[in-house]
Amino acid sequence: MNFLHPDIENYAQLHSSPESEILQKLNRETHARILRPRMLSGHMQGKLLEMISCMLQPERILEIGTYTGYSAICMARGLKKNGKLITIDHNPELEEFTRSFFKEAGLSDKIEYLIGEAVDILPTLNGPFDLAFIDADKENYTFYYEHVLEKLKPGGVILADNVLWSGKVLSEDAANGDPEANALIHFNKFVQNDQRAENLMLPFRDGLTIIRKL
Ligand SMILES: C[S@@+](CC[C@H](N)C(=O)[O-])C[C@H]1O[C@@H](n2cnc3c(N)ncnc32)[C@H](O)[C@@H]1O
Repeated sequence: MNFLHPDIENYAQLHSSPESEILQKLNRETHARILRPRMLSGHMQGKLLEMISCMLQPERILEIGTYTGYSAICMARGLKKNGKLITIDHNPELEEFTRSFFKEAGLSDKIEYLIGEAVDILPTLNGPFDLAFIDADKENYTFYYEHVLEKLKPGGVILADNVLWSGKVLSEDAANGDPEANALIHFNKFVQNDQRAENLMLPFRDGLTIIRKL
């Protein structure tokens, strides 16, 4: 869901750097060939991720929820020389498609792509990370946050996507029967009360929270 008026969104897009050729191709082919293409970050959010990564110049990035690799490619562009991005997804059917785009983007050696359940893989990874993007199953967001925060450098940043869940997080009654909305309500409260970090929820696209470890 997008909370912006389409004309405003369009105007903002026209006044932002254009989507690169490889990302346009990935966007197009994901829509043509892959199920649930709306999961892809897209031009504006991708550019935001790229900007944040370029400003932080991370050595190590962790992503939970690769899908077809759009956000991974965006964030990998900000990596320091010899930096690495680790990305996790449990859907093996996306592997061939996604790897081909990492290769075409010239990022195969910078991106470590792990296939499996994030709850199993995450505890096996060593930190520290400078930047993390949480964009997988909503029910596990708080688990992912706890594990990622522990592995994050002080000053490191976590980005959490879909925190507004089409506005369903606004009412606990409306969220009844929607486990994802309920998980996000819990996650948003947890982050808000966490003294170990500061946070900014952006009402951008489906809601993106920026969390900085103190
Ligand atoms: C919203 S998509 C990620 C979109 C991608 N970050 C982007 O911006 O283009 C969510 C992805 O999380 C993956 N996923 C969901 N649950 C998962 C889990 N338990 N472990 C690992 N990956 C999971 C799905 O297979 C899906 O590809």
